[in-house]
Amino acid sequence: MADRNFISFEGIDGCGKSTQAKLLAAHFSTEDQEIVRTREPGGSPGAEAIRELLLTGATDKWSAETELLLFTAARRDHLEKTINPALATGQMVICDRFADSTRVYQGATRGDLRAKVDQLHEAMIGREPDLTLIIDVDPKIALARGLARNSGEDRFEDFGLEFQEKLRAGFLKLVQEYPLRCHLVDGNRPAEAVFADVLALAQP
Ligand code: TYD
Repeated sequence: MADRNFISFEGIDGCGKSTQAKLLAAHFSTEDQEIVRTREPGGSPGAEAIRELLLTGATDKWSAETELLLFTAARRDHLEKTINPALATGQMVICDRFADSTRVYQGATRGDLRAKVDQLHEAMIGREPDLTLIIDVDPKIALARGLARNSGEDRFEDFGLEFQEKLRAGFLKLVQEYPLRCHLVDGNRPAEAVFADVLALAQP
């Protein structure tokens, strides 16, 4: 059985992946096994500072190209300071978003930048999670949930419904592109039912 030490959750805004990441971390956490639950953009002090730049403000604050550079810079810091050290000491890492978000948001939705996303990933990041769970939800429901949170970090939600529909199509394509790593979970159900599927996929 392949290693499942580095697991990422992905999906459109408001899909419920953070709840699932929390449930999974709680499930795997024991006295002997520490779980590092982290998120992107962010997950290290430097990357959290970049997060603030990216997620607040007007939709036209950054171009897709500038976003790509900032998300990649944040990811590099997150890897160096949080993810790699945790994996090196045998801890399990559960991450809310990783490089697939850049492939879908900057690569296929905000801009048509997939080739540049891949080049930067190869040059600066160079690793994938062992397993990626994509929580698939109706964009109308997800958008209502996301905006209802009113988190002040709504720059991407503010692009609107059509944007979320395009994102969903992008995530569905990723499952075809990476069939061994990426798995789709139907998120249009109560959190406990979604979690049963998440657990079945994540169990070693
Ligand atoms: P966040 O508040 O964490 O949203 P969510 O709870 O939906 O994950 O904000 C992260 C936002 O940043 C989200 O809209 C997706 C976007 N994003 C990108 O556009 N590219 C990326 O590489 C990453 C990691 C996130």
